[in-house]
Amino acid sequence: MIFDTHAHYDDEQFDEDRRELLGSMKDKGVGWIVNVSASYASCERVVDMVQEYPFMYAAVGIHPDEAGDLNEESFARMKELFRRDKVAAVGEIGLDYYWDNESHTIQKKWFIRQLELARELKLPVLIHSREAAADTMEIMKEHGQGLKGVIHCYSYSREMAKEYVKMGFYIGVGGVVTFKNARKLKETVEEIPLEAIVLETDCPYLAPVPYRGKRNDSSYIRYVAEEIGRLKGIPYEEVTAQTEENAKRLYGIAR
Ligand code: NI
Repeated sequence: MIFDTHAHYDDEQFDEDRRELLGSMKDKGVGWIVNVSASYASCERVVDMVQEYPFMYAAVGIHPDEAGDLNEESFARMKELFRRDKVAAVGEIGLDYYWDNESHTIQKKWFIRQLELARELKLPVLIHSREAAADTMEIMKEHGQGLKGVIHCYSYSREMAKEYVKMGFYIGVGGVVTFKNARKLKETVEEIPLEAIVLETDCPYLAPVPYRGKRNDSSYIRYVAEEIGRLKGIPYEEVTAQTEENAKRLYGIAR
């Protein structure tokens, strides 16, 4: 079964048909979904939602674009959510110098604090990093050693991907790999072992070809798995089976 390791089903783009859509996932070959929070406001919603669906787990964390919402008080309140059932990761956290919504100082501070939280809770991390390759690697080397996790929506060089894999992290591959101009990501997929890859949508964003630009959902991951199979010269079933095993190991979900 397909394991979508990174989705945002709290997004308002799913308000009209969320229940129906999620109810159809099993029939479409999707066995597992991790529902990821980004903003402070979404954390509780995301955790509530996964209680309703047996195949869904939650990740709680604050995205770098929203890091300005964190202070000691809100951080402590967010931490309380980890007492709830089915919270399987800290995420998404990291650095985003593309949107540059928050100062780099603020972004780094809360990235590091949330990495420390993951260590304390013994949970994996979901890392968002955009146009911040060097600073992310530096922080991960200093504060991420020994942690498990995913470099989500990976967009950097294959050399750096290999370095993350050596450090024990998974590379998150989604719809972008099907884009014609995604040469770098295709090369990365060719070079790193399938044992280091997990599938993800980041839905409602980043729909794969042939749905590029439309609303994404977990069932479209099959186009991602097909492309990975094509790039690596292996069958589709091998891609979905191995990445499912990788994700279950990462999140500590029993088979
Ligand atoms: Ni995301």
